[in-house]
Amino acid sequence: MCGIVGYVGERRAAPVILDGLRRLEYRGYDSAGLAVLTGGELRVVRRIGHVAALAAAVPPDLDGTTGIGHTRWATHGGVTEANAHPHLDATNRIALAHNGIIENHSVLRARLEEEGVTFRSETDTEVLVHLVRKFYDGDPEAAVRRALELVQGTFGIAVVFLDHPGLIIAARNGSPLVVGKGNGETFLASDPHALSAHTREVVYLEDRDIVKLDARGWTISRLDGGGVSRGVEVLSEEWAEEGRGDFSHHMLKEIHEQPESLARCLRGRVVPDQGTARLGGLDLSPRDIAGIRHITVLGCGTSFHAGLVGAAAMEGLARIPASAEIASEFRYRNPVIGPDDLFFAISQSGETADTLGAVKEVQVKGGKVLGVVNVVGSSIARTCGHGVYVHSGPEIAVASTKAFTSQVAALLVAALSFARTRVLGPHEGKAFGEELLAVPQRVGEWLSAEPASVMTAVELCTQGKYVFFLGRGVSHAVALEGALKLKEVAYVPCMAYPAAEMKHGPIALIDKNTPVVVVVPDDVMRDKTLSTIQEVRARGARMVVIHTAGDTAAAKLADVSIPVPRASTLISPLFSVLPLQLLAYRAGLALGRDIDRPRNLSKSVTVE
Ligand code: AGP
Repeated sequence: MCGIVGYVGERRAAPVILDGLRRLEYRGYDSAGLAVLTGGELRVVRRIGHVAALAAAVPPDLDGTTGIGHTRWATHGGVTEANAHPHLDATNRIALAHNGIIENHSVLRARLEEEGVTFRSETDTEVLVHLVRKFYDGDPEAAVRRALELVQGTFGIAVVFLDHPGLIIAARNGSPLVVGKGNGETFLASDPHALSAHTREVVYLEDRDIVKLDARGWTISRLDGGGVSRGVEVLSEEWAEEGRGDFSHHMLKEIHEQPESLARCLRGRVVPDQGTARLGGLDLSPRDIAGIRHITVLGCGTSFHAGLVGAAAMEGLARIPASAEIASEFRYRNPVIGPDDLFFAISQSGETADTLGAVKEVQVKGGKVLGVVNVVGSSIARTCGHGVYVHSGPEIAVASTKAFTSQVAALLVAALSFARTRVLGPHEGKAFGEELLAVPQRVGEWLSAEPASVMTAVELCTQGKYVFFLGRGVSHAVALEGALKLKEVAYVPCMAYPAAEMKHGPIALIDKNTPVVVVVPDDVMRDKTLSTIQEVRARGARMVVIHTAGDTAAAKLADVSIPVPRASTLISPLFSVLPLQLLAYRAGLALGRDIDRPRNLSKSVTVE
């Protein structure tokens, strides 16, 4: 989603800003711009399309050393140069970039228009720059503060003033911002990834912080009054690297990174000797675990799908009643939260607005919520305070792959530890722990011998009008994830159902040659799913069957058979999702899609 980069120092600001914007490209955007104070002017360049188009448009004489940049993901107003940020005030002396949504923008706009302001864009953001201008009497920070007093909604903003070269004012409420310290230079960004080439030392702003940056550093205070100091955090090494290596796309690289990302997630956490697992970050004593009455796993998209598997594990293995909910629905349904309920908030980015909103709703009601997050220091991780990092490493492709398997693995580890505390004996615990620890290597072996039938499945699934994905129990979660991947990356219409639901309506859509992908591990539901396959086949559907290696009965029912390694039910998603990730990737490739940056999507959905 939208990204912000700011620079103040001694170097030319434009190249630093462009480099930062390039590092934010993975988040998804449709236009980009920058504003640099140069030669007594505030010069703004904006382009629709990629940062490369912006870079090509930046004139060589744009050599000022203070500036801000932005990548925009359109919300209010179409994808046009006029709507791209930064926006200028009427005198062209103040420029502002904004992430988030100004909810009362129409009222503010009407008021400003009555006062004679002419708007140059359709955005909600433009009201901010005119308000800052209105209140500006020589003190930039005071003007930003007064403008933000009138604003309802979410914002991360960066503002530069022609009268104050060498100064950036930034503020946040609901949209992340970090500041970074260099040597005689200071950086600002909405995502620390943008700063990784320049500094590892960052400070995360909190909601309602306002910060004044110059080349020597920064001063943070609260929008509601008073100063504040925030601790410096050091970014980990792995976030600095972002190349694709020998892979043609980040998505393929990330699929193939799963043996390592899973190993990182499990390392030091599973204790097979004792048949248990340890997750220090959860901050729960055995007594706390014994007292849990219900677990709810909250997330959106792929993270929600991982949550479905996690909830099944909490209930199936640890025997704690559990469910997964879509965070955007949960947060507004005024949920009843009991004193012994526990919540997990799952998020790769740690910045998803709906999941963060759900976390805050749990906390308002006195509930305990633990983060299951990939990005260290992100808003959800910090708001939860406790939880588990999944350690997938940076996930650049918009379509989530390695984060999904690490999220599932982290929740399985938590379920094992809860299960051992409550119901599971040491032998069963040991068997589960050992099976988990063997997963990374087995995933690697499967990926390096990817069955040729994945390509046949691609041919089938790119020919139909739509594709069905079916599975039961945790395999339904995998079916949902497979369908989401194929929609995102290949733009193929897909539907996912619990297999037994087909006969309650959706089977009406099956006709000759409809592609149907079924996930059927050799578990307690296998025979029932095989019956569904028979029913669907009888209507002429073409079946892609993902089944346990050696299950010849399942393979015989398939037009395309894709064997995956044998695993116990709760662990099976870590294998059965692999062919679905590759199916989406290879279908996207065959259809000529923009695999790593699919249209309309954003890596981190920071608005509601
Ligand atoms: C996954 O492929 C998607 N891009 C999307 O569904 C994503 O999982 C969702 O937006 C949640 O993101 P998060 O994990 O960063 O919170």
